[in-house]
Order: sequence, then C-alpha cells, then structure tokens
Amino acid sequence: MTARRKKPEELRSHRWYGVDDMRSFGHRSRTAQMGFHRTDYAGKPVIAILNTWSDINPCHTHFRQRAEEVKRGIWQAGGFPVEMPAMSLSEPFQKPTSMLYRNLLAMEAEELLRAYPADGCVLMGGCDKTTPGLVMGALSMNLPSIFMPAGPMLRGDFRGQSLGSGSDTWKYWAELRAGNITQEDWREVEAGIARAPGHCMTMGTASTMTSAAEAMGLTLPGAASIPAADSRHAQMATLTGKRIVDMVWEDLKIRDVVDARAIDNAVTTVLALGGSTNAVVHLVAIARRAGVRLDLARFDELARRTPVLANIRPSGKYLMEDFFYAGGLRGLLSRLADLVDGRAPTVNGRTLGENVAEARVWNDEVILPRERPLVAGDGLAVLTGNLAPRGAVIKPPAMEARLHKHTGPAVVFASYDDMAARIDDPALPVTAGSVIVLQGAGPQGGPGMPEWGQLPIPKKLLKEGVRDMVRISDARMSGTSYGACVLHVTPESHVGGPLALVRDGDLVSLDVPARRLELLVDAAELARRRAAWQAPPPRYDRGFGALYLKHVTQADEGCDFDFLADGPPTPEPEIH
Ligand code: FES
Repeated sequence: MTARRKKPEELRSHRWYGVDDMRSFGHRSRTAQMGFHRTDYAGKPVIAILNTWSDINPCHTHFRQRAEEVKRGIWQAGGFPVEMPAMSLSEPFQKPTSMLYRNLLAMEAEELLRAYPADGCVLMGGCDKTTPGLVMGALSMNLPSIFMPAGPMLRGDFRGQSLGSGSDTWKYWAELRAGNITQEDWREVEAGIARAPGHCMTMGTASTMTSAAEAMGLTLPGAASIPAADSRHAQMATLTGKRIVDMVWEDLKIRDVVDARAIDNAVTTVLALGGSTNAVVHLVAIARRAGVRLDLARFDELARRTPVLANIRPSGKYLMEDFFYAGGLRGLLSRLADLVDGRAPTVNGRTLGENVAEARVWNDEVILPRERPLVAGDGLAVLTGNLAPRGAVIKPPAMEARLHKHTGPAVVFASYDDMAARIDDPALPVTAGSVIVLQGAGPQGGPGMPEWGQLPIPKKLLKEGVRDMVRISDARMSGTSYGACVLHVTPESHVGGPLALVRDGDLVSLDVPARRLELLVDAAELARRRAAWQAPPPRYDRGFGALYLKHVTQADEGCDFDFLADGPPTPEPEIH
C-alpha cells in the first residue's frame, strides 16, 4: 500500500476530461448534456459502478436502489459516479448454464473499464457467476476496485420451518417423487423458499464466492454476510462508494490486494465455510488473472488442515441469516487466525488481521469453536486416478460417510437427455450399490459445464429409502446440492478423457481417504475402447458459443479462456 496520493492530472479520466483538445470538448459537452456541470466532475475520480442488475435476476432485485446508495457515497467522498450496466448472469434463468457466460461477463467488465474514463470501480455482484466474472475482469484491467456483495436473502419459510435455497428444493423434490408430500405441499414450498431480495442463503456458490471475495480483501470488512434486506446492507453500499474514491487517490489497485496470500486466504475460508465446489473452478481462474498459480493439489493440501466451522446448509444446519447474527465472516475468520495470513492487505487499507481483530462470535452453534468443528478437515477432497488423471473433486461433509470407500458397477448415461429418459425406468439395472456415471457434461460437452453433477437417484431406489449413492460426472454441482457426487472429472469425456470409456457394468472404485478414483478395467481393454472412440461434433458453430468452445480450458485450469488467463497487458485505448 502506498501513502502517496495521486494528483488530479494523474487520473486516468484526465485523458478524457482534462486535456484541452476537441475530443475533450466532446466528452465535456456530452457530460453537460447529461445534466452535469463541470464542477461535478472536474479533477475528481470517475468511478465506474458495474451493476449486474436485471429484471431477470431475482438475486439482484435491490441493485437499482443499492447503486443509488453507492453513488451517494461516491458523491460524498468527492468522486463522480458513472453507473454502467454489465451482463447479469441470473443463475435460475440463464440457459444452458450461466457458467457458459462467466467469461463473457469477465470480458465485458474488463472492456467497460478499459474503454471508458474509469479511475476506479465498484463491482456489484453476488448471484453465483457474477462474483468471479466481475473480479476476473477487474483483475485483468487492474484499476482500484472494490466489490459490493449482493448479500444473502432471508431464510425461506414453509409452515414455520426455515427453508434453504436449492438444498430444500432437492429435498422436497425427492419427497414428492417418493410420494411423501402432496402437490399442495410442494406449491407452498415454492411460494416460501425465496421470499426476499438477495442471493441464495445456503452455502451455495453465491455465499461461497462473496465470502471468498471478502477473504481476498476485496470488500469492506463484514460486507459479504449482511442480508440484502437488512438496512445495514444499504449502509455498507454507501460506505463502499466512499471508500473507492480514496482508493483511487491512494492508487490502491486490485492486484495490490489480490496476491498469493489473499488467494490462499480465500481457499481456506471457502473450506472453513464448507463452501461450494464451484469455488475450485472460480478461484483457479481468479488466481491466474492475478498472476498467482493455484492448482487442485493446493486445495487438497489446505483442506486437510482446515476445519469446517460454519454450520450452514447443505453441510450443516443453519442459513446465512443465522451466520450474520452469529458474527458473520469476520467472526469465522477470527477463529482461523492461525490458518489465514493476517498480513494480507484489503481494500480498506488495513490488513485482514486488523479487520478481524475485534470480531466476536455470538452463537457457537452457528460458527463452531475450533475444538468442536462440523468436520475436522477435508471439507473438500481432490481425487486422482485412471478415471480422472488431472483431478476431480468431491465434498465429503455433504455425503453419507459409508460411501467414502465404495466400489460398484457403473450405470452409464451418455448425455443429460439419455439420463433424463432412462433414470426412472423401473427396468434400469441399478441398485443402491451402483455407481451412476454421466458423460458429456464438462466445459465443452455440456457445454459450459452445467450444474448437473448431483445426478438424480432413480425413483425406484428413492422409494426403497435410498437417499445417497456414488455418482460421477465431468459436470459441476450447485453449492446448495449434496451427496456422494464426484465432480469436475478432468479431462472431460467430450475431449476423450477416460470418463468417455466407461461402460455399463465396469467396476468403479471411490476411495476418499486415499484420494483415488479408479476404473477397474484392464489397460488393454481401455486401449481398445480408446482406439474406437470418436470425438463428438462441436456443440456450436457460430457466435459466442463457438468462441467459447475454441478457447475454454479444462476445469483444473479454471475454465477461463486461454487468451484471457495469461499474456501481456492490453494497451490503454488511444483517445482520438
Ligand atoms: Fe442467484 Fe442462487 S440463484 S445466487
């Protein structure tokens, strides 16, 4: 961090507004056209507010209002706010999967910041992929940047019981299919499960990634845990706007904050939260944009020493609203002092350690003490073996412990449609000991690596009372999901990974303690199958989809585009 303060003529926006030429005349006259007087912006930091609000994104319903509160803070601190809408990746609605568009948002964020006179930015995101997309783009542009998290929604409600996003959808859907609840019950769940603005309030990808952003130092302390509907969330928005103006004067850029310590702190935090497996893909991509190498082995290494302390669904019992009242992320971090690097810088100019020094935990049932963790370690496990040479991930706390070591015959589905057509067929030769395998659901095959990884349990087994079994795919899984689901198998089947070679009846062995995933078929037979394997045609021939298929990397590399992850800096635009 630097004590030196920038001079107004050193502002990036000075090139647009401050010089005395015809182009600057155009910029000033057009700003006047929008109703601003020269004194509104002259010599002031221009702050881009990248707002992922949309009528189709329920998690960002409050963002129009929050943008006004961010602007209030920017005005108060002597900046000039400019709101710029950015693609709203709406998890429930965007098809085939919002993951297909994460990199498009990252590109949009980077290019908005580059093409316009931004001196600094406020990133407004929260719904799943919006957080990594915005952070990735901002890292590549490397301006002073601060993240304003959407905040979780309030607890869901069903006849007085609290409902959790996603987790309770799967749960009650299984009960409906098993005939244990009625259609009327199901409609009541529908009406009460999402009853307030904000992102999913379980420890899904949204809560995981906004918390990771805070642990990385990118938000004001405590920001990620505040429920969207709480008035303290609006206050946080204003304070965020105030702070970014000073960050510009201090020239505190995003890559000054996100270093190797920050990335490790984010990984450790995700693990202690029992966070979403999606964080693996996103944090690898974020780290690479920051110039930090992060591989899957590092997740496994940190997981072995990190206890899960957040008692939040789907691994635990409570929801994000409870977590906030219990002390929130600052409370949790105060219990991880020996596992995170407290010297890492943050956007408020203080270190992470300084920011949590005074933090307290108010409810030991929600944020568990170190001597009584939800799980002592292994919040996440990275598997390798002949079925996943470059790795796969599983979330041991969210699965039945009896399945940690399991060998069973494969029941293979070649695609999602194949699975949907046959999974509930009473004649399907499947038992509770089978291993369900889905192919064709990776970054290229899905395409976009959809969240199909919590493969459904066949109806006939549900009726027998089976609620968990080993399932394997190259897909991702929603952070709100649970079960013995092996995910992110890499390389994916669509590009000829070994998952493509699995046949019905092959024995598959999962050994979580040994971190192994093996296909128990002899090498000669696998070689025969490989020789006969034919690459499926690409899923898109034009448009963004074609660009995506050409450049997306595999899950172990973060599914970023190869031409965005690394490379020399893009030059500043010419202004003429
Ligand atoms: Fe937006 Fe879950 S749908 S965070």
